[in-house]
Amino acid sequence: MVSAAISRLSLPEKPAGLYDPIRYTLDCGGKRLRPVLTLAACQALGTEPSKAIHQAVAIEMFHNFTLLHDDVMDNADVRRGRPTVHVKWDERTAILSGDAMLTTATMLLAIKADDHLAQALELFNGTAMSIYEGQQLDMDFESRMDVTVDEYIEMIRLKTSVLLGCACGMGAIMAGAPFETQVAFYNFGVNLGLAFQLQDDFLDTFGDEKSFGKAIGGDILNDKKTWLLITALNEDSEGRLKKIVGNSEIAPADKINEVRGIYEQLNLPERLHALVGNYIDEAIKSLDYIPLSPEARAFFIDLATQSATRVK
Ligand code: IPE
Ligand code: IPE
Ligand code: MG
Ligand code: MG
Ligand code: MG
Repeated sequence: MVSAAISRLSLPEKPAGLYDPIRYTLDCGGKRLRPVLTLAACQALGTEPSKAIHQAVAIEMFHNFTLLHDDVMDNADVRRGRPTVHVKWDERTAILSGDAMLTTATMLLAIKADDHLAQALELFNGTAMSIYEGQQLDMDFESRMDVTVDEYIEMIRLKTSVLLGCACGMGAIMAGAPFETQVAFYNFGVNLGLAFQLQDDFLDTFGDEKSFGKAIGGDILNDKKTWLLITALNEDSEGRLKKIVGNSEIAPADKINEVRGIYEQLNLPERLHALVGNYIDEAIKSLDYIPLSPEARAFFIDLATQSATRVK
């Protein structure tokens, strides 16, 4: 349903320099997790999912916009197994096509939103501002060595989790659900989002480039203060890691291998997955506050559980 709706979007042909990168980005697929959450939440609350389709596509469009700019900020060359827009075209193209996607997202959000428009816009715009704040913190943390786990969790809540919360909450809004139900669905999405970003950080270091679709080791090369790096720095009694982080003289492949080795010695993959499991449990607890059929509940539990072990 989501892919069909995306392919029905009739973007103008010209100027090609603006619209081709948007088509390229949307054609490259992706998991479509956020719009699926919106439609599933709407349906689970007893409303036809088609009622929320424009809002679901709006959120996916917004997500894809953040990726165009994120790849510039992170200097990332590969996404979804293909060259990123700033590599295939250039940075100014990624900026402007991203801008056009943001505005397209806002236009889509308003389509057939009817009397839910004000609520939908408030949630959407508030979420967008949080994401920009999270992205700024993510960049600020690159040059800091004293980032705490709590600061990291707050940063990923802002840059990633609130959009999954928004996707769920939007489905509830379009279903005309009571505020408490909207909040419970939002909380489900936020906790799922924390688990989702932790797993993203795990895959960035330990994943397989082919299935993940992104270059492995980008976070290490950018000195991203992930849970892995923060925890390892806290436990780096011999100061080995401190000599590597922020050091631009080490060859990239060596830096990735050395840091990965330290993470493995500290058993961090397993410890990260325990944390991911806690957030998945929290997400599942939020479902208790939503009037769901057993089938719908099982669907969301399944989706959350799968996100914890995803490889792409
Ligand atoms: C990538 O999101 C950005 C993060 C929040 C980690 P996804 O992993 O959902 O990306 P696609 O849309 O499936 O490619
Ligand atoms: C995702 O953070 C946050 C946003 C895109 C808003 P990452 O920088 O980890 O996402 P990927 O790994 O590039 O997809
Ligand atoms: Mg980033
Ligand atoms: Mg990135
Ligand atoms: Mg990442």
